[in-house]
Amino acid sequence: MEQALVLLHGFPFEGSYWQPQAEGLSTACRVLAPDLRGFGADRRVLPAALTMEQLADDVLADMDAAGLKRATICGLSMGGYVAMALAARAPERVDALVLCNTRATADDAEGRAAREKTAVDALEHGPQVIARAMLPKLLSEKTQAHKPDLVQRIESMIARQRPEAIATASRGMALRPERFSFLRGWKKPALVITGAHDMLMPLPTSVAMRDALPNSHLVVIPDAAHLSSAENPAAFNLALLDFMKTYD
Ligand code: MLT
Repeated sequence: MEQALVLLHGFPFEGSYWQPQAEGLSTACRVLAPDLRGFGADRRVLPAALTMEQLADDVLADMDAAGLKRATICGLSMGGYVAMALAARAPERVDALVLCNTRATADDAEGRAAREKTAVDALEHGPQVIARAMLPKLLSEKTQAHKPDLVQRIESMIARQRPEAIATASRGMALRPERFSFLRGWKKPALVITGAHDMLMPLPTSVAMRDALPNSHLVVIPDAAHLSSAENPAAFNLALLDFMKTYD
């Protein structure tokens, strides 16, 4: 049976973030890249704080609607938090896990306060302010200097998100639990990916996840920071394809 790949975007993006993967991988497998609740074209009702478990339930419903019983679940950053929540909730729906530019720790008090500030900034000043604050941290210096189209695409993607979606996801991320005990018990294949220049989730963060996962390896994408799949799609797609060949 054809393999399926579910791609879960980071914060504050939308399903179209994965365009380079949808284009590069859809001849090899079936690709589903949903808008997480509130983002992109999604207009579902938003609570004050949307937990990673609620987002995972939405993704399971998206898989049902697409007729996917199981898939490789790949999440980047916030998408990685959702991927881990989904795998913890419904392991039978997951063939393998791909955790990109993400982490298994929970937020500390300072981190939770920063989430609340992001939520309030988005609601009071709009998504452009969030885009300007985040952009330098998301992309490598090389990407910022040499890929103006990508910089523009990422900035406008953040700037068109609903302030309420940014606020509810930010508050939801603050509520997420630590996931190392889950990772230690995850026996199915797993791939950890990060960008060589990711300052938001530095390399030791990914090494710790790789070490916790009993059946995993780590790929570091060159010429990329936090948005590794967008900054170096050729290397990212190859890593995914090589990984997906190792299991059915
Ligand atoms: C993301 O890219 O999804 C965010 O940086 C995740 C986070 O803020 O923890």
